[in-house]
Order: sequence, then structure tokens, then C-alpha cells
Amino acid sequence: MIATAEPIIDVRQVVKTFPTGDTEITVLRGVSLTVQRGEFVAIVGPSGNGKSTLLNMITGIDHPTQGQVFVNGKAVHKMNENQLAAWRNTDVGIVFQFFQLLPSLNLLQNIMLPMDFARRLKPKDRREQAHCLLELVGLKDQWHKLPSQISGGQQQRAAIARALANQPPLLVADEPTGNLDARTSDEVFALFCRLASQGTTLVMVTHNEELARQVPRTVAVVNGMIERDEKRVVTDGPCSATEDTEDAESRSEFSPASVTGNGVHA
Ligand SMILES: Nc1ncnc2c1ncn2[C@@H]1O[C@H](COP(=O)(O)OP(=O)(O)OP(=O)(O)O)[C@@H](O)[C@H]1O
Ligand SMILES: [Mg+2]
Repeated sequence: MIATAEPIIDVRQVVKTFPTGDTEITVLRGVSLTVQRGEFVAIVGPSGNGKSTLLNMITGIDHPTQGQVFVNGKAVHKMNENQLAAWRNTDVGIVFQFFQLLPSLNLLQNIMLPMDFARRLKPKDRREQAHCLLELVGLKDQWHKLPSQISGGQQQRAAIARALANQPPLLVADEPTGNLDARTSDEVFALFCRLASQGTTLVMVTHNEELARQVPRTVAVVNGMIERDEKRVVTDGPCSATEDTEDAESRSEFSPASVTGNGVHA
């Protein structure tokens, strides 16, 4: 008998209000959302309607006013800041619009940092894993460069490699292509599709409708509520099944699990 799989994300009736002067604004109005392991979900919706606030609930960057948030079996809404910091470092990769790499560290050092905090691997293996991740995102030969010495698209790919440092089962990205030109944006999106095909769960906020159409599930957040939740079979673009097959060989070669040999995304 196959047990019903527990969703990796289970947001239950979340309300979020912010104080504004004498009063308060309600930004999330009872949002419920479940995401299964291995899904790739695009979150869309007008500016200021609660997309980033919802992501912040999932990552524990901010706390719900009411409701519950479970991620990978953990009650995120109950954790304190120390617990959240440790949990986030290993269980959730976060990618932001403006990359947020540490400017004084080279790419290799930036990617090793979350591993240094987690202390799961020996220092030598951390270095090897970081090189493997740089190869995964197409930056193999750039490891020694500072973030300021590479392009925006390259910085974002390095930021994705850093988010994957501890092989999290979930990657959350807030407008990861929002600051990139069309070609670079397509490259980053293709990388996300590749990660999704390897089993990483992905939640990506985007304003790019063309990209959102190429993702298997789209959730629209409008006025603090989920207005639409659509699933589709993707037949076009880098997330399509055809592309998966074509890429299969290179994927297995560059899997982030290849250094430690863990079947992390299984
Ligand atoms: N810390 C805060 N204090 C007060 N108001 C906030 C805070 N964070 C967000 N808001 C408000 O909550 C609303 C939703 O913001 P949010 O950042 O979630 O929108 P968004 O959908 O991500 O928009 P965008 O597409 O522009 O990034 C906005 O009106 C914003 O001003
Ligand atoms: Mg936002």
C-alpha cells in the first residue's frame, strides 16, 4: 500500500497584517496552499498583493499573524529565530532578485559559507561540493572571481549554487529573473527546470508571464488571496518533457548530489 505523501509545503489559513501608523493593513487574508514534493510552482499576481509576504511565511523570514505553516514536516510558525536560521540553512534554498552574494568573498567562498555553518561535510568535501555546484550552474572556471567581477546573470547563477549548497529539498525564489535581461533570464529559468526535473521542489515568484506559462503549476495571489491555482502539462520550453529527455545525460553528470553521493533529491 502506498501512503499518501505529506506535502512539502502546507500553508493553512494564513493571515498576515502589518501595523501602519494608527491602523493596520491585512496583506494575506486566509491563504491556504499545499505543494507536493517535486512540484515546480510559479507564483504570480500584481505588485503589492502579497507574493513576497507569502514566500516570507514559507521561509520563516516573517511570521503569520494567524494560521500555520508546515515545511518539510516542520512547524515553521512555531520556530524561534535560532531554530529558523539553522533550519533555513539546510532545508530551504532562497534566491532573491538582487543576488545578495557577499561582495568580499569569491564565488567558491560564497558557496561554501552555508556548508561551513551546517558543518555536515569535512572542509575538503565542502570545497569539492562547491566546485561541483559551480559546474552545475555553468561557472566552473569563475570560482576565484568576486561577485563584482562577473555579470548579473552569472551572479544569479552563483546565488542559486549557494542556495543549493546544503542540498535543500526546497528552493524558493523571489523574482529571480527580475533583474536580468531576457537571454540571461532564460538561462536561469532553464537551470530551474533542470533542478525541478531532478526532484527539487521549486517555488518561484515571477512577473514574467511568458516564464510562468512554461511552469507546470501557477498560483495567482491577488489582494492577499489565492485567486487562481492552475496545473498544466508543459509542452514547450525548458521544463517540457522533451527537454528533460535531451538533458538527462548532462543532468546526472552535474547532479549536486554527486560529490557526497547522497540521493538528496530522491
Ligand atoms: N514589513 C512591512 N510593513 C508594512 N507593510 C508591508 C511590509 N511588508 C510588506 N508590506 C505591504 O504588504 C503589501 C504586499 O507586499 P508584498 O511585498 O508581499 O507584495 P508583492 O506581491 O511581493 O509585490 P511586488 O510584486 O511588488 O514584489 C504591500 O502593500 C506592502 O507595502
Ligand atoms: Mg515581491
